Amino acid sequence: MIPQSFLQDLLNRVDIVEVVGRYVQLKKGGANFMGLCPFHNEKSPSFTVSPTKQFYHCFGCGAHGTAIGFLMEHTGLSFVEAVNDLARNIGMTVPQEGGTAGHAGPRGHAVALTDVMTRACDYYRQQLRGALSAIEYLKGRGLSGQIAAHFGLGYAPEGWQNLEAVFERYQDDTLLEAGLVIDSEKTDAQGRNRRYDRFRHRIMFPIRNTKGQVIAFGGRVLGAGEPKYLNSPETPLFSKGSELYGLFEARAAIRDAGFVLVVEGYMDVVALAQLGFPNAVATLGTACTPIHVQKLLRQTDEIVFSFDGDAAGRRAARRALEACLPHASDNRTLKFLFLPVEHDPDSFVREFGAEAFSAEIAKALPLSQFLLNEVLHDKELHQPEGRARALFEAKPLLQALPANALRAQIVHALAERVGSPLDEVTRLCGLDAGKPAWDRAPAKREKRRVQGQAHRALQNLLMYPRLGNELSADDIQVLASTSYAELFGEVLSHCREMGAQAEFRYLSDRLRDSENAASYEDLFKEILSMDENVRDLLLYDPDDALQAERAEEQWRLRLAELRAAVRKLHYDSVCDRLEQMFKRGTLSPDEMTEAAALTRQRAVLKQQLA
Ligand code: UTP
Ligand code: MN
Repeated sequence: MIPQSFLQDLLNRVDIVEVVGRYVQLKKGGANFMGLCPFHNEKSPSFTVSPTKQFYHCFGCGAHGTAIGFLMEHTGLSFVEAVNDLARNIGMTVPQEGGTAGHAGPRGHAVALTDVMTRACDYYRQQLRGALSAIEYLKGRGLSGQIAAHFGLGYAPEGWQNLEAVFERYQDDTLLEAGLVIDSEKTDAQGRNRRYDRFRHRIMFPIRNTKGQVIAFGGRVLGAGEPKYLNSPETPLFSKGSELYGLFEARAAIRDAGFVLVVEGYMDVVALAQLGFPNAVATLGTACTPIHVQKLLRQTDEIVFSFDGDAAGRRAARRALEACLPHASDNRTLKFLFLPVEHDPDSFVREFGAEAFSAEIAKALPLSQFLLNEVLHDKELHQPEGRARALFEAKPLLQALPANALRAQIVHALAERVGSPLDEVTRLCGLDAGKPAWDRAPAKREKRRVQGQAHRALQNLLMYPRLGNELSADDIQVLASTSYAELFGEVLSHCREMGAQAEFRYLSDRLRDSENAASYEDLFKEILSMDENVRDLLLYDPDDALQAERAEEQWRLRLAELRAAVRKLHYDSVCDRLEQMFKRGTLSPDEMTEAAALTRQRAVLKQQLA
């Protein structure tokens, strides 16, 4: 269980405007930010984000929550995953069950590693200034000094131990762990392994994480030589399968352009940035992974992959397609662009210009088209064997797609092309067996309309969850004997967990993961469509003394409301029980006693209710 105090601390430190702004274009309007709601289709903005309330709310569709809730709703992460994600982004450690955040250990170490990387980066940059051959090389590739500076390009000079002059202790393990040096098998006079710099006589491309810290390098030979690019090894800071070159530098441009371009090479990213496409990133000499895709989809809803026109490019595209499938939701656009065989984006733009490249982007194949091409292109569709083969190859791809409208469309098109009835394709591809395996979300229940006094009680609890902790054991017993026992039980357990800090906005995030989320959602929407004053008090700013006071007043009124609802529920259940007994006629002596007690209780409750 993550302590509520940590969650509040986290929400205080992340900027909800920044989190939402990664996905939604926001404009300032008064105290709030407005934009087009990402959760429903609309032409004029009804989606608001309040920096002081730490809350977003769409007046159109009722979507709402904190930064945690937004990530959950937008990316499909679970509550815990969303918390981890936000925490990681701002360098906070999520405390584990029972324990407290581990600060000194691995985190202290990571700081040492980034520190070493930053110093190496500064050194390489400074070396570039005096390195004529390196400057010549970059100029020869058409790069301006400005763009080189923007990407922090540097130069690792010739020589085996240049870093000895940069770090006081060249023998420090940190340098080895950071991947900056290599220990050879050979030993020196003292019996120590001879150590040397990994990067020598290379153009240095620093790789930054999303916070902008240098976590790795790519080094290119000047001119011809092997290997052309030398990369940092996997280190505690750097994992190729999840990092993208240029993402930090491209973030704002991705937001402005509304899409990200994914290319294959370092040079492509840098050259494109100079030539009018600052929204490009590159995988690091590896296939595109689902983690890459997920990372990109946190910044934008549209990805355009641009691959080199050669065979390797086609293979890379296929891998990217597979990485994209689980993330292909209906509100996202994933496209694939293939350049002529002899070109990569860098050479293409230099030869044909930015406009021609823009035209290529506009012509890029949507995922559906590329997928269909992949399974159909080399099949003899006039033969039963060819058509069967196409279905066979389509099966794993279709199964990896979420069961959404896009998949339905692709299945439709495929059925048409192979000339089979739709339900047969669905069955053969194993698409009718409910949810795909990767979908870990618990089965959500149908929504239940909560009615009567239970509705009144639940509504008040959701609005002011601190009320849950004011209920007596008897009150809770009453709620547990209604037909909504499960909902009350769940809400009350969250109230307990949050304790004195329990609030509407936090409860709404927590209940998103619930199997009963749909039932709560209706209630939340109802609450948020209440009078503006009611809403304002629910989301009051604790630093505003006047509002805090009014919220407190409101809280007491709501407590009375909740108690009244519980009493009425109790009264109704006593009446029901008595009615049942009298219907049966003859009662045992024990039942007679119970009936007498119930009658007295009914009288008391009736009086209290009056
Ligand atoms: P390419 O061979 O297509 O090179 O490798 P490039 O990006 O066009 O480079 P220039 O234009 O000749 O400078 C594409 C990517 O594959 C990785 C690098 O990330 C490179 O950018 N790669 C390539 C390596 O990691 N090592 C290599 O030896 C070659
Ligand atoms: Mn190239």
